[in-house]
Amino acid sequence: MKRQPLRLAILEATRILEAAGVESPRNDAELLAAHVLGVERGRLPLVPLVDPPVIDAIGQLVAQRAKRVPLQYLTGWAALGGITVDVGPGVFIPRPETELVFEWGRSLLKGREYPLVVDLCTGSGVLALAVAHARPDAVVYAVDVDPHALAWARHNADARAAAGDTPIRLYSGDVGDPTIFAELDGLVDLVLCNPPYVPPGGDLPPEVVDHDPPQAVFAADGGLAVIRQVIATAARLLKPGGGVAIEHDDTHGSAVPSLVAARKVLTDVADHPDLAGRPRFVTARRATSP
Ligand SMILES: C[S@@+](CC[C@H](N)C(=O)[O-])C[C@H]1O[C@@H](n2cnc3c(N)ncnc32)[C@H](O)[C@@H]1O
Repeated sequence: MKRQPLRLAILEATRILEAAGVESPRNDAELLAAHVLGVERGRLPLVPLVDPPVIDAIGQLVAQRAKRVPLQYLTGWAALGGITVDVGPGVFIPRPETELVFEWGRSLLKGREYPLVVDLCTGSGVLALAVAHARPDAVVYAVDVDPHALAWARHNADARAAAGDTPIRLYSGDVGDPTIFAELDGLVDLVLCNPPYVPPGGDLPPEVVDHDPPQAVFAADGGLAVIRQVIATAARLLKPGGGVAIEHDDTHGSAVPSLVAARKVLTDVADHPDLAGRPRFVTARRATSP
């Protein structure tokens, strides 16, 4: 068989993914082709012709993506905060909206030396590892309750440490445990959290329903159960002037800020939109005076 134009393979892949209802078919077709070829997506135009085995490999991945297996499970990685982490079955895939939570946290740390940072509900470890990458002087703690997620987080933490980042301190634990990180009470500069927050029973795409771990996505009490615990833990951990950012469902743009404001030690409560303009994360600071 002779070599074929990559451009045509990508067009065909895009058509298949579009018919399967994939949200961004061209994007995914190009990323899968780049993954098979081992090049960055921006370099695809430099690859005019490809061998039949490459076409086959792209076709196999496209067939899986058409079955709505998440793109990142097929490529094996996700990016956030200037790093990539490995992901696969058993761990939540970092989402673009969480980038804004990270950026808020990074801004809060400006001017603070050797800050103490806690990532509650760490999943793949991405928020904790992104902070450790951006701020080598930070001491970063991270916790998750799920052993499968923790295995991914450990793998990613080892890889980032091997790449030269400051190692993070990774723990197994429940954010609802009133003694969790008790040794850090009143000492923490920044708490970041992307908890499970989707109200059970909603209409979600197959990538989420069939592949994301349910305990990473859904929370009882209409999606607020874990967030309530996170707010209590953050209020206890933060030092005066320290800040917290918590991602939430887009239907909770009033409910979550109200829960935060109900904690008298937390002030400057503000809600922030995601990249699509929907309410997405709340921030607050621990009051500096009693
Ligand atoms: C939405 S994922 C977020 C993962 C990661 N922070 C991110 O942004 O990609 C939520 C994570 O919270 C963990 N989790 C759920 N309930 C928890 C609890 N009570 N205590 C600690 N972790 C919990 C899940 O295992 C999952 O890894």
